[in-house]
Amino acid sequence: MKIAVAGTGYVGLVTGTCLAKIGHTVFCVDKEASKIAQLRRGESPIYEPGLEAEIVEAKDAGRLHFTTDYAVAYRQAEVIMIGVATPENTDGSANLQALYQVCEQIATSITSPTLVVVKSTVPIGTNDRLAAYFDQLLGDSRKSWVEVASNPEFLSQGTALRDTLQAERIVIGTESQEAADILTEIYTPFDQPILKMNRRSAEMVKYASNDFLALKISFVNDIANLCEAVGADIDEVTSGMGADSRIGSRFLAPGIGYGGSCFPKDTKALHWLAEEAGYTLKTIRAAIDVNEKQRFKLMQAARKDIPLFAGKKIAVLGATFKPGTDDLREAPSIPNLQMLLNEGADVHVYDPVGLPNLENVFGSRLHYGESVASVLQGADACFIFTEWAVFKEMDLALFHTMREPRVYDGRNCFSVKAAEQAGLQYYSIGRARVGGAVFA
Ligand code: UDX
Repeated sequence: MKIAVAGTGYVGLVTGTCLAKIGHTVFCVDKEASKIAQLRRGESPIYEPGLEAEIVEAKDAGRLHFTTDYAVAYRQAEVIMIGVATPENTDGSANLQALYQVCEQIATSITSPTLVVVKSTVPIGTNDRLAAYFDQLLGDSRKSWVEVASNPEFLSQGTALRDTLQAERIVIGTESQEAADILTEIYTPFDQPILKMNRRSAEMVKYASNDFLALKISFVNDIANLCEAVGADIDEVTSGMGADSRIGSRFLAPGIGYGGSCFPKDTKALHWLAEEAGYTLKTIRAAIDVNEKQRFKLMQAARKDIPLFAGKKIAVLGATFKPGTDDLREAPSIPNLQMLLNEGADVHVYDPVGLPNLENVFGSRLHYGESVASVLQGADACFIFTEWAVFKEMDLALFHTMREPRVYDGRNCFSVKAAEQAGLQYYSIGRARVGGAVFA
């Protein structure tokens, strides 16, 4: 099938590449000429393991094309998928400007009936409103030319290809059998369970899934904080909880809170949407509140030992919102780095892939290290914000190159026992402190 994909961000690019891989002819459209030029050279503008190789393979096979010329791409497509960003407005609602702009471009481009599939995460009811908007844009002569379907994605950064090629489910929200049939035909080669429902339910599945996972993380962080207060160990607690298959052991890792392009935005968007509808989502409100506070757990612990950060050398390991990505969106590291800088600390950061993006945010205010060892040397304290494998596997003796081996670990990279054996002063989330006197 001939498919155009609007937007070459995570959703659009991964979707387009995977659809081309399974045999469709795909035209990826983006307004940014530099991004399209890069993609035409076979380079991925985002860091995603395995993606670049798949782009090159599908491109060389003649099934994946990149263009800024939306009119040509939309005109020849049987189906147009939209994967543009729906960022957060200042009040927490979703900003749909890019989505509406693409719809306007589609309306001016198409010359025959077309199925428009919205993959972007959008508030419940948006697809219905888009359908009405298309009718208005297309006028009487082309009325009902566009059928709108909702088809949310569930990919995670770092595992986006696997999440798409081996998805646990494909959700299709349509208002006509014809639209459902076309989408079924597109996805049949993936051999994954296809769940068919109406558009509003499909939109809700996406928010409810992300918000449930965010809630699960905030819940475990809440319990971890209580573990610290009452002398329980969160690792032992989650191993006991996770053994119950109704709870499951995934998304039970405590830490300094969830970040990224989805959970923070989607929790706020659903909460906002519920308020607009006259209903307060108390569970989601709680998940948001716990997460906001959780981000500053390490600083709170460190302040007890280091009342003043001014002039202190602070080593920071990890900046991205999770390992396996160079994405810094809503990363808990950002407000913490900001605070350390505001207080006059001399901050040295190492991250395996996130440093170029970090430099775009902080410029010369931070020191960017070339290795774990280089940032630890002579530091007064070390903060860990991301659990990259290179940190989890490091030789803990390296911490003894610091002025004092004081480690504040926001992702529980080491076992308490290993930290004890290595002679560290170690604070982690929801577990016993090591080198207690220092933290008294
Ligand atoms: C998420 C969803 O998982 C995905 O299905 C959706 O399509 C987009 O949003 P992503 O943002 O890429 O994906 O990352 P994810 O792996 O879910 O992690 C999000 C945040 O939660 C990270 O900051 C991570 O560190 C944190 N997290 C995750 C925890 O703190 N504890 C956990 O147990 C799991």
